Amino acid sequence: MTNNDVLLFFQKKLEEKKLNQNLSHLFLFLLTKVTNYSDIFLILNKKINFSEHKAKKLIKSYCEKNIPYQYFFCKCFFLDKTFYIKKKVFVPRPETEQLVVIVKKFLTYYPFFKAYPLIDLCSGTGVIGVSLANFFEEIFFVEKSFVARKCIKKNIKHLKNKKIKIFCNAFKFKKKITFLVSNPPYLKKNEDICNFSKNEPKNAFFYKSHENDFIIDFLEYATKNNLLNKKYFLIFEINFHNLEMFLKKLKNIDLKFYLIKDLENKTRFLIITSLNILPTILNQISF
Ligand SMILES: C[S@@+](CC[C@H](N)C(=O)[O-])C[C@H]1O[C@@H](n2cnc3c(N)ncnc32)[C@H](O)[C@@H]1O
Repeated sequence: MTNNDVLLFFQKKLEEKKLNQNLSHLFLFLLTKVTNYSDIFLILNKKINFSEHKAKKLIKSYCEKNIPYQYFFCKCFFLDKTFYIKKKVFVPRPETEQLVVIVKKFLTYYPFFKAYPLIDLCSGTGVIGVSLANFFEEIFFVEKSFVARKCIKKNIKHLKNKKIKIFCNAFKFKKKITFLVSNPPYLKKNEDICNFSKNEPKNAFFYKSHENDFIIDFLEYATKNNLLNKKYFLIFEINFHNLEMFLKKLKNIDLKFYLIKDLENKTRFLIITSLNILPTILNQISF
């Protein structure tokens, strides 16, 4: 089967499934991953043979079973890096890339935080911790899923000179918190997720019941157990759908907070901090 055959087969499937034809660009990109040739090379050399079985399996799992293509290659992409991922582990999202970009900008204004451990709470594959590893000597990953922790172990292999610890449960975490970045499960049980997400682990999206919020529970846990250091900065990705309800609960906890919008102008990030962040700095670190 040539790459051209595969592309045609894919386009036919998209048509049958009434899916967006623009996805064929994405598919070309995926082919670069299967063949290890560049996209231009693939376009110019239409007769490169590769496994028909592998190509068809990918197309079927992507178009018919809605399995994220990242599971097929055991690879996902986050900012400028490639990460190892396995089935049953949350596939990192672009919003979390924005979260990391905000944190990088923040650290230019408050570099003293680099002397403290970075806590990547609810790490999944570890994309947040690994992407920010250059800034910190010590990194703590906190992740409940066993398979995800296996991915983290692979993804930190190149971080030779760093002190790294992996913890299992946010609600059993006992270290002092100075600098924490997190994309926790934040959807409400009644919120819909897209077909691809249905093949990802449910507890990456949902936390307990309608009433509970992971972030609120974690902040209560951290304050009750006196985990917050004198100076602290915590930043979370949040659910903009339930914002009003969420802020009502947040205001009951006596912690200073700031909100930041994402590139789509949705309130997506929450900062909890002991600092007084000037509006000009808040503006600089936002999009
Ligand atoms: C939305 S995913 C985010 C993963 C990763 N930070 C990312 O952005 O790609 C949330 C992650 O939190 C983990 N998780 C859920 N409850 C947890 C808990 N109590 N303690 C630690 N991790 C938890 C899930 O297994 C999942 O990997």
